[in-house]
Amino acid sequence: MCGIVGYVGRRDASPILVEGLQRLEYRGYDSAGVAVVNDGSIRVHKAKGRVSDLLAGLPKRFGGTIGIGHTRWATHGVPNEPNAHPHLDAEGRIAIVHNGIIENFKEIRGKLQSEGVAFSSDTDSEVLAHLISRSKAEGLVEKVREALLSVEGTYGICVVDRDTPDTLVAARNGSPIVIGIGEKENFIASDVAALVRHTQQVVYLDDGEIAIVKANEFQTLGLDLSERTKRSQKVDWDVGTYDKGAHDHYLRKEILEQPEAVTRALSGRLDTRFSTSHLGGVELDPKEILRIKRIQVLACGSGYYAGLAGARLIESLSRIPSSAEPASEFRYRNPIVDPDTLYIAVSQSGETLDTLRAVQEVKRKGGMVTGIVNVVGSSIARECGSGIYLHAGPEVSVASTKAFTSTIVAFALLGLHLGRVRDLSPSDGARIINALSSLPDKITETLQTEEQVADLAKKYLDSTSAFFIGRVNGFPIACEGAQKLKEISYVHAEAYPASELKHGPLALVCPEFVSVVLFPNDDLYDKNVSAMEEIKARNGPVISVGHNPELAAISDDFVRVPSSEPELDSILINIPLQLFAYHSALIRGVDIDQPRNLAKSVTVE
Ligand code: F6R
Repeated sequence: MCGIVGYVGRRDASPILVEGLQRLEYRGYDSAGVAVVNDGSIRVHKAKGRVSDLLAGLPKRFGGTIGIGHTRWATHGVPNEPNAHPHLDAEGRIAIVHNGIIENFKEIRGKLQSEGVAFSSDTDSEVLAHLISRSKAEGLVEKVREALLSVEGTYGICVVDRDTPDTLVAARNGSPIVIGIGEKENFIASDVAALVRHTQQVVYLDDGEIAIVKANEFQTLGLDLSERTKRSQKVDWDVGTYDKGAHDHYLRKEILEQPEAVTRALSGRLDTRFSTSHLGGVELDPKEILRIKRIQVLACGSGYYAGLAGARLIESLSRIPSSAEPASEFRYRNPIVDPDTLYIAVSQSGETLDTLRAVQEVKRKGGMVTGIVNVVGSSIARECGSGIYLHAGPEVSVASTKAFTSTIVAFALLGLHLGRVRDLSPSDGARIINALSSLPDKITETLQTEEQVADLAKKYLDSTSAFFIGRVNGFPIACEGAQKLKEISYVHAEAYPASELKHGPLALVCPEFVSVVLFPNDDLYDKNVSAMEEIKARNGPVISVGHNPELAAISDDFVRVPSSEPELDSILINIPLQLFAYHSALIRGVDIDQPRNLAKSVTVE
């Protein structure tokens, strides 16, 4: 989704801004722009399309050692040049970039228009430039503050002022802003990805904070302009971790990185002595664990499917009733928040607004919430205050792969921890530890199916639709398999619990409709075979994924994966599904890393 960069220092600002925007491309966007303050005026350059289009038209000597840049994902107004940010006020004195949504923009716009202000775009954001410029307050930061007090909604903003050419002002409410601390230069960004080439030392703004950033110093204030002292912290990820290396697509790189990602998720967390796990970030003592009556996972998209898998996993290891719900539904339905329920927010980016709001709703009602998050220091991680970091490394491709896998591993660690305080026996704990320890090697082995899966993607190229069928532990993986295929290859795909087929969806089965049937290592094998037979009896082609070699004879195609313990097996079964989606997209020639209409972190309602 939208991205912000800002620079103030001694170097030429525009190449730094453009490079920062390139680092944010993965988030999804449809137009881009930069503005610099040069010789007492603001110069703006914008383009519809990619950052490369912006760069192609950027005047050679754009100048300026201070500036702001933006990638826009259209919400209010179509993707075109006028709607691209930065936006200027009427006199060209102030330029702003904005992430988020100004909910009362129509009212403000109407009022400003009645006062004679002409607007150059259809965006909600432009009102901010006019409000700041028309403020009667003394300095730039006071003007920004006054403007922010009159808007409702969410924002991450960065502002430059022609008359204050040494200062960037940034502010945050619901949309991330981070300050990058350099040597005689400082940076602003909405995502550390835009900064790590220059600095790994950062300061995260919290909601309701404003930053005044100059080349040699920065200051953070509350919206009441009171001083807020903030410490800088070091980001783990350096610029190399964002590189595609020799791979054609980030998605494939991230699929292949899963053995290392899982190794990192497990590192230092398994305790063979007591057959449990150590989770430094989960601040629950045994007495609190014994008091937990329910667990509810809140997450969106693939995070929700990982949460469905995780809830089943935790329930089976700890015998605490567990469920998952899309955070986007939870936050709007006035949920009953129970003090004996542990809420777990899952998010790769840590910035998904629906999940963040769900966490805030739980906290507001006095509930207990912890996070499973990949991005360290992200909004959800900080709002939860405790939790498990995935350490999966940056996930750049819009579609989630390694974070999905690492999330289920994190759930297994948590289930082990809770289970060993409750009902899980030492021998079962040891069984899970062994299975977790062998996962990275088994994932490596599973990745060897790639060539076979690529052939299957070719074979089923003409399939107009696909079913993904799973039961119990297989069902969340079926959901994720369908999600991956539809989001990156645009093939219509749906997931069903195996036993639900006969209650309706079987009507769709025909030779052009491929079904992928999942066979985790559990005692439901025969039941899953029956579901597969129902499909085959209707001439539907079936790809089976599992361990039992017998499947080769009774399905049209069989992808064999190594087996693990029943609780963890679905992690392995999911890997050929990721590869199937990747190769289906590849042969269709679509943009794999940035699928149409999608964004990496969804920071709007
Ligand atoms: C799908 C995908 C999305 C995200 C969802 C939540 O491949 O990536 O469905 O899972 O937008 O994002 P996070 O996990 O960042 O909160």
